[in-house]
Amino acid sequence: MKLKACIFDLDGVIVDTAKYHYLAWKRLADQLGIFFNEDINERLKGVSRTESLKIILELSDIVYTRDEEAALAARKNQWYVDYISRMTPAEILPGSFEFISEIKNAGIKVAIGSASKNTPLILERLGLKELFDAVADGNIVKKAKPDPEVFLKAAEMLKVRSKECVVFEDAAAGIKAALNAGMKCVGIGSQKILSQADLVVSGLDKMNLEKLNSL
Ligand code: BG6
Ligand code: MG
Repeated sequence: MKLKACIFDLDGVIVDTAKYHYLAWKRLADQLGIFFNEDINERLKGVSRTESLKIILELSDIVYTRDEEAALAARKNQWYVDYISRMTPAEILPGSFEFISEIKNAGIKVAIGSASKNTPLILERLGLKELFDAVADGNIVKKAKPDPEVFLKAAEMLKVRSKECVVFEDAAAGIKAALNAGMKCVGIGSQKILSQADLVVSGLDKMNLEKLNSL
């Protein structure tokens, strides 16, 4: 089957927003008197905002109502938005723009498949709004990765079939989502965490058209 489209996760693949998520969650956890560190932050990668809060509250003695939880998630998001509003195109991860441009020139369609509701703001801050043929994000999907919904939605928007797509993901939940969607998958990061992917590279600067076509 001919490769027709590539779907990119945003956070951790095209930009390192994990450090901003960490700062905002840490601020909330400190206010609530809950222990939070980089290891717990690792578990939040690829996970939706609501699910992330649940992970943080695992170490809380207090049980919050649904409304209180929604207010806590909103408080964190306000801080997070403050941080990402100051991002510039200099924060685009190495090789991302070059690789995506290379495959676009070869006639391959490109989309974003991200859990983040802040995707439009991030793409705008990075100056990447025009680069993608479609954007499927947390604003239009209901089910979080590892559910395949976000990638299936991206394929639908691009009018391609699952088996014609390759997904790029940095989170284990995202790799599972790609496989659940019946798509090939390239892991961005460590082989140990992303062993289910068809290929693992350290970043998009290590990708090219030849490697993509050999999948
Ligand atoms: C994912 C991140 O891309 O988006 C997660 O990896 C984050 O860490 C999720 O929780 C939701 O993001 P947002 O911006 O909607 O809070
Ligand atoms: Mg990610």
